[in-house]
Amino acid sequence: MILQKSIQEVVEAAKIEEVVGDFVNLRRRGVNLAGLCPFHHEKTPSFYVSPAKNIFKCFGCARGGTPVQFVMEHENLSFPDAIRYLARKYKIELEETEVSTEALEEQQLVESLYLVNQFAFQFFQDQLFLTDKGKTIGLAYFKHRGFREETIRTFGLGFAPESGDALTRLAIEKGYSIDLLRSLGLCSSSDRDFFRNRVMFPIHNLSGKVIAFAGRIMNKDPKAPKYINSPETDIYQKSKVLFGAFQAKTAIRREDSCILVEGYTDVISLHQNGIENVVASSGTSLTTGQIRLIKRFTNNLTILYDGDQAGVRAALRGLDLALEEDMYVRVVMLPDGEDPDSFVQKAGRDDFSDFIKNNAQDIIQLEAGLLLRQSANDPTKRAEMIGHIAHSISRVKNPIRRDEYIRNVRELLQVDEGKLVLEINRILQKEVEKFSQRKELDPSGALAGGEAGNLQETVPVSDKYVTSEFGDGYLEKDIARLLITAGNKRFDPAEEVSVAEYVLLNIEDVLAEFDHPLYKQVVENVFQLVMDKKEVSLEFFLHHPVDDIRQLAINVSTSPYEYSENWEKRHDIGLSQSLPEENHRNDAENLIKRFKLRKIRRFKERNARKMNDLFQANGPEEEIQACMQLHLTLKEIENQLARELGTVVLK
Ligand code: GTP
Ligand code: MN
Repeated sequence: MILQKSIQEVVEAAKIEEVVGDFVNLRRRGVNLAGLCPFHHEKTPSFYVSPAKNIFKCFGCARGGTPVQFVMEHENLSFPDAIRYLARKYKIELEETEVSTEALEEQQLVESLYLVNQFAFQFFQDQLFLTDKGKTIGLAYFKHRGFREETIRTFGLGFAPESGDALTRLAIEKGYSIDLLRSLGLCSSSDRDFFRNRVMFPIHNLSGKVIAFAGRIMNKDPKAPKYINSPETDIYQKSKVLFGAFQAKTAIRREDSCILVEGYTDVISLHQNGIENVVASSGTSLTTGQIRLIKRFTNNLTILYDGDQAGVRAALRGLDLALEEDMYVRVVMLPDGEDPDSFVQKAGRDDFSDFIKNNAQDIIQLEAGLLLRQSANDPTKRAEMIGHIAHSISRVKNPIRRDEYIRNVRELLQVDEGKLVLEINRILQKEVEKFSQRKELDPSGALAGGEAGNLQETVPVSDKYVTSEFGDGYLEKDIARLLITAGNKRFDPAEEVSVAEYVLLNIEDVLAEFDHPLYKQVVENVFQLVMDKKEVSLEFFLHHPVDDIRQLAINVSTSPYEYSENWEKRHDIGLSQSLPEENHRNDAENLIKRFKLRKIRRFKERNARKMNDLFQANGPEEEIQACMQLHLTLKEIENQLARELGTVVLK
């Protein structure tokens, strides 16, 4: 385990522009640096590095964070390994302690599971390429399916012989533990091989380690399952794994799009035909874990379904999940009787790609079309169906996209747009209510929010630690105001960064700390707009589907102007500073600093509370040390912010 102080040292040494600079050609852009995002394909730079804040941010794919996070993401490393990487880069000697025996045992178990799987992986491949049976049965089968040798090697395909215990015997001979073989499902309790006379498909994790196997039967046998799979283990959780993800991840990033198919052989066949951004979900319907896995590489998901009715129903199951994760989901129904494998072999790469392009249906339109057919001429069913679709649409977080859906669905279903919007708003409203109730019930008060006027009532005064944790509603409102009224403005003509980009870049690390759902939603909307390269306009908020946001937009866009005018008149003097609406830089910088100061104080108090609890409970020395370290760092930042704020006029 790396000592906290070493981690601290590395974190302090790592400069974002230097860390990113190793991979990205950065050019100066105003106060920041910009370049082409290394995580997704793009033609114009939307990838920013802020040396002042020591963070990176991509407005194209929404990735962002500290130098450590960049290394973790870019090099696919764990936190400790990212620290080690940076320590090497900055020539810092790390102090590490022995790991606790428990953690060590767990680590060793996991490592040995990988080792045994690696052994089995090699065994199945050797059987395929080096034995007579493997060549005449297994390899012949793959060749018959049209798989080239290069493809077979890319996916590490193999062959499990018919004899009862060849793998188990050899493994034991080589000193692998029978218990591990059993827990990996490679052999049965009576020490017979689990996979027999099957062609083998290894399943890799994202870093390329073999975590499980699937074995396919080679001849049709109604009594035996077509595929058998390894059981779930410490290294294989089915719901978080996608077949082919390791071989596809670079292409998914490059194409900024992922294709999901049903079968292992579909993945392999498409890959061989030059369509490499393909994964399969192993015969189960899509899970949230799998969607998040894809989302690490792209927001665009295209699901291919075989041309049969069952496929349509399966498509709908994944719908709400994917929408909730804010993915752009499209569905393609293949021609009758075809699956991706057979179709790509017939059509070839270009025609296949064209077919996908021309036949991709938005998933909500698909649902609407399907339900329409089912409920023709039945008014009760129809009402039910509208409720159903409203529910799906309410899952979409981005209001622009939600509007698009509403317009499309209205055309398709010939329903009154107002009715649909009403229904959607009703669902959303209910959720906002649920959300704010949760906050009020939060006993720590850490989430207590609201306007300055009613703060006292919502903060539980009995808790001595939270007395200064007033909800920061009024500051948050100010940020929302700035974004709504001036989000699209430039600081000055020489700089390309807009107010919205600047604010987002600077508050992202504390965004999770927003108290007020309404203002938080404004910030999230702005974020989406910036990502979609759309204008952050007052108009957008004045026509927002959520009543409260429309109201907010009206309020903030009128009151400050009146205020400044009256103030000027009443005092019969010119303002010494520009009006707030003309002084966006000051406005933004001040706001961000004040906002951060509040949040930093909150972090500090939360940390102090934890430290106190640890002391009381006689907790581990190491953790107390870490808390103290954090306390010092936070205090440093607090002082810095307070100093900077002291030099400007507070409102
Ligand atoms: P081919 O028939 O060789 O083209 O295989 P395929 O991979 O295209 O399979 P298919 O389209 O029949 O099924 C899709 C996916 O469902 C497979 O890749 C498996 O993940 C899963 N699957 C199919 N049959 C079985 C089975 O009998 N048992 C299990 N556990 N999974 C299966
Ligand atoms: Mn198939």
